[in-house]
Amino acid sequence: ANQTETTIILFGATGDLAVRKLYPALYQLYKKQNDVERFAIIGTGRRAYDHETYRAVVKESIKAEGVEADDFLKRFFFYSIDVENVEAYKGLGELANKVDKDFNLSGNRMFYLALAPNFFGTVTTHLKESGLTNTSGWKRLVIEKPFGHNLSSAQKLNQEINHVFDEQEIYRIDHYLGKEMVQNIQVIRFANPLFESIWNNRYISNIQITSSETLGVGERAGYYDRTGALMDMVQNHILQMTALTAMEPPSRLETEDIRDEKVKVLRSIRPVTIESVKEDIIKAQYKSGILENGEQVKGYRDEDNIKENSQTDTFVAAKLYIDNFRWAGVPFYIRTGKRLKVKSTQIVIQFKDAPLNPYLDQQPNRLVIHVQPDEGLSLILNAKKIGESQETMPIKLDFCHNCTNELGTSDAYERLIHDCMRGDSTNFTRWDEVALSWQYVDSIIKAWDEAKAPLDYYEAGTRGPKAADELLAKNHFHWWPIT
Ligand code: BG6
Repeated sequence: ANQTETTIILFGATGDLAVRKLYPALYQLYKKQNDVERFAIIGTGRRAYDHETYRAVVKESIKAEGVEADDFLKRFFFYSIDVENVEAYKGLGELANKVDKDFNLSGNRMFYLALAPNFFGTVTTHLKESGLTNTSGWKRLVIEKPFGHNLSSAQKLNQEINHVFDEQEIYRIDHYLGKEMVQNIQVIRFANPLFESIWNNRYISNIQITSSETLGVGERAGYYDRTGALMDMVQNHILQMTALTAMEPPSRLETEDIRDEKVKVLRSIRPVTIESVKEDIIKAQYKSGILENGEQVKGYRDEDNIKENSQTDTFVAAKLYIDNFRWAGVPFYIRTGKRLKVKSTQIVIQFKDAPLNPYLDQQPNRLVIHVQPDEGLSLILNAKKIGESQETMPIKLDFCHNCTNELGTSDAYERLIHDCMRGDSTNFTRWDEVALSWQYVDSIIKAWDEAKAPLDYYEAGTRGPKAADELLAKNHFHWWPIT
């Protein structure tokens, strides 16, 4: 199963994701990875491009010239298609067969859906009906988010694609799982007995997971206004980071063993009720404000194509509990939002104070996992203030692997495409993870509705609404600064 040669059939080839992420990632893979030699890409889209026009688009996106770039570009082909017309797939199949033969790709096919989610079901069905999935090599489906917009739509979509692909052939993208430091969470935990032995409710007082963005809704108004921060970020990225931070050590580092442990965490999240939702979950929307760089920006409702009375959440903060032996009583605080002060993702593990503390000014020990922009770790300890003093001061042990060597780390998409070529689906979400995440998110939305939970507001360029600070203050905690 580890033959990497493949024809990638990409739907949405002229879209934003393909141009911004996929082509540069493929180019890096092609340059760096010895096992990625034999591949070709058939891009599809509605436009009437020929191969040359398409190659020019790809070339522009990889920002590279020369023999290497030419050798890369000659693997790109375009097929213009109306994805709803099953007849149109016939020609795609013929092109795929030809490309497969010319490049000697063993009949392996990766179908990559980087297009509007309402076409996911239609495209997979037509791929089967037109015989494209009936190939002599392996077949895999890579599917971008959103995977449904609630549990029942996700189930329906899953059924549709299951008619064509087995669960093992489905690679559901959560690009956070491709990030260096998200992959590092389990190594930090399970390869360091120092941490693992205290990674529980006896020694940890709370955990804070933040993914903060400075960008606003940008050009995705149509999608975002229907979605909001809870569905756009919490349902996938934030819950995945939570699961990795909280899971039990897998008995082996095999795909299904790791996923099984994540599923157990998701299953143990305490359900939200109409009573708890008001106390524990905050939704807010940005108003106009000034960003750190001095730029004055509009409020959410004044953005292009956003309804003027939109109730969509652009910020969510929540306290959740994982009701199992390891985590009973430990609050997990999560938050994410757009148009905040900084672009940063980090996980803070706050340890409990010493049972008896002779030093008045001691700070809690913390382990900070920096996911982005810095990729590394900090450990915050107490030490004696220098000189003849009895006082303590916090000291920070830092490790940052991309601070000195920016070129060193690969992009998330580079890793994930490579994983898919090699048939490793560890860093993709299995169906039961998706279903359980939706179940949790659906319960929040239902409780918000029933409780008529109010929408809060925050000024753009700030750290979010005050209510998010009060959420922690109630338990005598506060958010640790994000950097
Ligand atoms: C995407 C969301 O999944 O993640 C976007 O749809 C968000 O709204 C993005 O901006 C954040 O990703 P990153 O890698 O920039 O943190």
